[in-house]
Amino acid sequence: MASFCAIASATNCIPYSSSFSSNKSPLSSNRRKNPAIKFTCKAKNDNHKPETTSKNGENSPGKLDRRDVLLGLGGLYSTSLAVNPMALAKPALPDFKDCIDATQPNGTPINCCPPAVANIPDYVPSATTIRTRMAAQSFTVDSDYYNKYSSAIQKMRNLSLTDPRNFTQQANVHCAYCDGGYTQKGYPNLLYEIHNSWMFFPWHRWYLYFFEKICQNLIDDDTFTLPFWNWDAPEGMQIPPIFNSGVQSPLYNCLRNPAHLPPTVVNLDWSNDDVTVPPNVQIKYNLATMYKQMITQSKTPADFFGSPYRAGDETPEINTAGQIEQTPHNHVHSWTGTIVDPDNPIDMGALYSAARDPIFYAHHANIDRLWTIKLNQLKGTNFTDPDWLNAYFIFYNEEAKPVRVRIQDCLDPTKLGYTYEDVPIPWIDVSTKPKPRAKAKTLPSAPDPAQVFPITLDKPINVIVKRPKKSGSGSPEEILVIEGIEYDKKNYVKFNVYINEDDVNSSHPDNTEFLGSFSNLPHGHRMNVKTNKKFRISEVLEELGARDYDKVLVTLVPKSKPVRINGIKIEFDS
Ligand code: C2O
Repeated sequence: MASFCAIASATNCIPYSSSFSSNKSPLSSNRRKNPAIKFTCKAKNDNHKPETTSKNGENSPGKLDRRDVLLGLGGLYSTSLAVNPMALAKPALPDFKDCIDATQPNGTPINCCPPAVANIPDYVPSATTIRTRMAAQSFTVDSDYYNKYSSAIQKMRNLSLTDPRNFTQQANVHCAYCDGGYTQKGYPNLLYEIHNSWMFFPWHRWYLYFFEKICQNLIDDDTFTLPFWNWDAPEGMQIPPIFNSGVQSPLYNCLRNPAHLPPTVVNLDWSNDDVTVPPNVQIKYNLATMYKQMITQSKTPADFFGSPYRAGDETPEINTAGQIEQTPHNHVHSWTGTIVDPDNPIDMGALYSAARDPIFYAHHANIDRLWTIKLNQLKGTNFTDPDWLNAYFIFYNEEAKPVRVRIQDCLDPTKLGYTYEDVPIPWIDVSTKPKPRAKAKTLPSAPDPAQVFPITLDKPINVIVKRPKKSGSGSPEEILVIEGIEYDKKNYVKFNVYINEDDVNSSHPDNTEFLGSFSNLPHGHRMNVKTNKKFRISEVLEELGARDYDKVLVTLVPKSKPVRINGIKIEFDS
């Protein structure tokens, strides 16, 4: 592997600890070191205590009143914004003026900062022509499309490192936004982050939009569109040929798991210790995973997109990732990335380096496509919360100029000038829905959660959890909540969750009993976090013939370094 990478590094593999992780980046003018948040991003100063909002939207007692936050931020929104500044005080926003060293999962600082800029204009897209992003598997390496795309990426790689459109700098945009490169505007003790909350889908949509524009500009062809890695359909469940075209190809990356090159079928709920199964079996598991994540577990905008992230929130302590961000998004990353050092993954396996692999952009185009499927085919809805709609990000456009863009302006891809090829969506058919492995079992005995938690999950555990009693009419959905999952963000984390399953080794993603998994892709924030994971279980219990049981058996199976878990309960959906 080492010599393989050495050959490739001259063209398309950035060696570990490369020049841009040194302290002398050509783009360092916008950068400072911030000793106050070196090891934690917990607010130290009471004035910056995270504000929490209860389910009904009221501020929690004892926390900062939102009006105080508005007053405290009063001066920050006084320039260049054409909208009511009061309306903008609530979204969590990156402080673009103040980029700091991000952190690699191994703790080494990394400078991902873009150039400093004074005036950043607002940008609202108004496309008049709609282009179609095509499934990556439709293209061969001798196609015109391959030539265009590889020439665009090669041109990006050839740009000076001082140009924000340079390929490495584009990868650094992702690094700065997800590994602690920015603080939150108005909250200098809180790191800003675009994963694990409702920022995930819109941030990546805008990121791809400008990446595609830069490609179009460099090859002088505005008909060019990014491909999508169609890993949710059997035709696309391998690394697409255009990304696997040899070490000299600009679309290649040597830091991929050598065991997962074609014809290996992707595993959308991959764990490090998964054994390879025949391709048709893996395809069946993948389709069931898609059904479960897109349909069974994604009923509300918060299920699908992730929970709110507002000014002063410390993410993800009180925020949780959406179902799709966890599975399949995280697992396609870790399945694709290298396993040279499982404790220190790089390129697709870790967020700071993921966008150095050209396949990243095709992976995220498919994530973005799932958003369109959720709205169109599955009749889902976007959030209408102004704190989501008004949140903004800053990117560099195809002319290397910074622009400020808002979530509200990216909700309709046709206004951004693109749509997705209409390929089959096999998992949307109810025949792919996970099936019970064994109906209406007698539950084995197991302890009550109070006897078990808190616990460090270093081996599988079973608990019997009481279901809440319904009061009044109606039937609110029951939610299984795994509470207070504590881990260090620099670690790869995964555990699987089963319900009413007495033999987890026989239970697979196409079984109803396999509820799903919790995962964390290594980030460089170097902070211990505490979050929750929720699963919708009413429909699941119905299918398992356990509707009338007053208790359920829950099994947690660790698939990574141990995490600490504080409790498990079942509550009604609010
Ligand atoms: Cu920003 Cu796939 O990660």
